Amino acid sequence: MPSPRTPLVAGNWKMHGLSSALSELAVIAEGVARGAAGRASCAICPPATLLAKAVEIAGPDLAIGGQDCAPRVFGAHTGDLSAEMLNDAGARYVIVGHSERRENHGETDALVLAKAEAAFRAGLTAILCVGETRDERDAGRAFDVVGRQVEHSVPPASTADNLVLAYEPVWAIGTGLVPTVDDVAAMHQFLRERLQTLLPDGGAGVRILYGGSVKPDNAAALLAINNVDGALVGGASLKAIDFLAIAASYR
Ligand code: 13P
Repeated sequence: MPSPRTPLVAGNWKMHGLSSALSELAVIAEGVARGAAGRASCAICPPATLLAKAVEIAGPDLAIGGQDCAPRVFGAHTGDLSAEMLNDAGARYVIVGHSERRENHGETDALVLAKAEAAFRAGLTAILCVGETRDERDAGRAFDVVGRQVEHSVPPASTADNLVLAYEPVWAIGTGLVPTVDDVAAMHQFLRERLQTLLPDGGAGVRILYGGSVKPDNAAALLAINNVDGALVGGASLKAIDFLAIAASYR
């Protein structure tokens, strides 16, 4: 059954991309503008160094996002970028709580919640990531872990407009491994129920993306699953042809 919510296909370029990569972004923008992405909204989150130029190239149809933000507005925080700064550069989205940041920078659920609130304050939509490790899944704790992440990192002020949730099993990121259709369906159904409990007014409208080794050849099957309202794409978003093929799965 097609999602009743407008799907979002977002690319996370992570720490990839010098100025030369903007030519790939231009091809994505051109494709989205001519309708190649079907009914999906599209966003690319490049490294912060490319944000302002990316916004110029992207035009009105392709949104640009940051990959992280600080919880505070400004101050003595060398190297950090506030959500206001991302907004000022033209970003419309910001990823918060990606597992690489939770792991590499020790980000806790409380910090992720503060970052999501910072995004709301600045008028950005937060793409908030949750997901279990392989060990956690093997121990039968996936729902427990992900449920707890949602409960502790989704701000009460979340709405369908300011929050997108992304389920990214850590073991599926960059590995070519993907959960079965049944496992994705079960987790997204679980997340929908949790969101509706936590956010009685907006939970039904919040989009829930799947992320982790989404490629052109598995996108149609993944994106057809109930409560999968789009994808958060890493490696395959670096190539315009692959990103557009994934987005076109919603045609
Ligand atoms: P891959 O698509 O490369 O597995 O990365 C997923 C991801 O982490 C997106 O945020």
